[in-house]
Amino acid sequence: MHLTKEARAQLPQPHMNTSVIVALDLDSREEVLHLVQTLGQEAMAYKVGLQLLTAEGPSLVRELVAQGKQVFLDLKLHEIPSSVAAGVSAAGRLGATMVTVHASAGSAVLRAAVEAAKPFGALKVLALTVITSLGDEDLPEIGLAPSVKEQVMRLAHLAANAGCHGLVASAQEAAYLRDALPAELLIVTPGIQFQDSGRTEQTRVATPDMAARLGASHVVMGRAIVKASNPGLALSRAAMAFEAGRRERVLA
Ligand code: C5P
Repeated sequence: MHLTKEARAQLPQPHMNTSVIVALDLDSREEVLHLVQTLGQEAMAYKVGLQLLTAEGPSLVRELVAQGKQVFLDLKLHEIPSSVAAGVSAAGRLGATMVTVHASAGSAVLRAAVEAAKPFGALKVLALTVITSLGDEDLPEIGLAPSVKEQVMRLAHLAANAGCHGLVASAQEAAYLRDALPAELLIVTPGIQFQDSGRTEQTRVATPDMAARLGASHVVMGRAIVKASNPGLALSRAAMAFEAGRRERVLA
């Protein structure tokens, strides 16, 4: 029986870890396929961003989808409504299950993105609010009042009202967004590392369990898994920690 990519993406998977999305911030198809093979059935969701898409093109996304993987296409769209809609449709045709749009592009763009995703049942539109590398002190130079929290809240409400399925937000942001927004909204949280990773360059970071406790529905993890000496073990550890945090949140 031949199933469309959309139908395949809707099928229940045998053993799914889709809460931890592995960021494929890599340059080559070989590296990606090696990692995907190493992680095997343990990893069912991957994020493909501008680096890999530019280096290897959409055929790699098709390959991942053909292997039954969920692909979060991190396009970070910020364009006029018709161009964003066309980008979202293209992502849907590739079989992506998540695509990102900048909320600061405005409600017409967000509505166009949501509308364009409709024919692809599994495709979720995630809105980006304020990129996580910006702090309060950076906002005035782009003409915004110096409160990341205020901007995030305003743009998150805009995205939710436009019908977006979720948000990309740091763990700290997830804490207040989860309480302020509809419960069904996805909150996908990057900036995740293990407690003992020793990485210090990121200020807004959290562990997988912390993110889940604060309300994240998914976490995105790149280097903490991809660069680990044993990526499979790192993924299992992240998945277990996320699940423990999620349970704690449900029981609290
Ligand atoms: O830091 P890590 O390697 O886990 O990053 C994986 C992905 O998460 C990156 O592709 C980037 O898009 C996103 N990220 C982010 N904010 C951070 C750190 C990472 O949006 N503070």
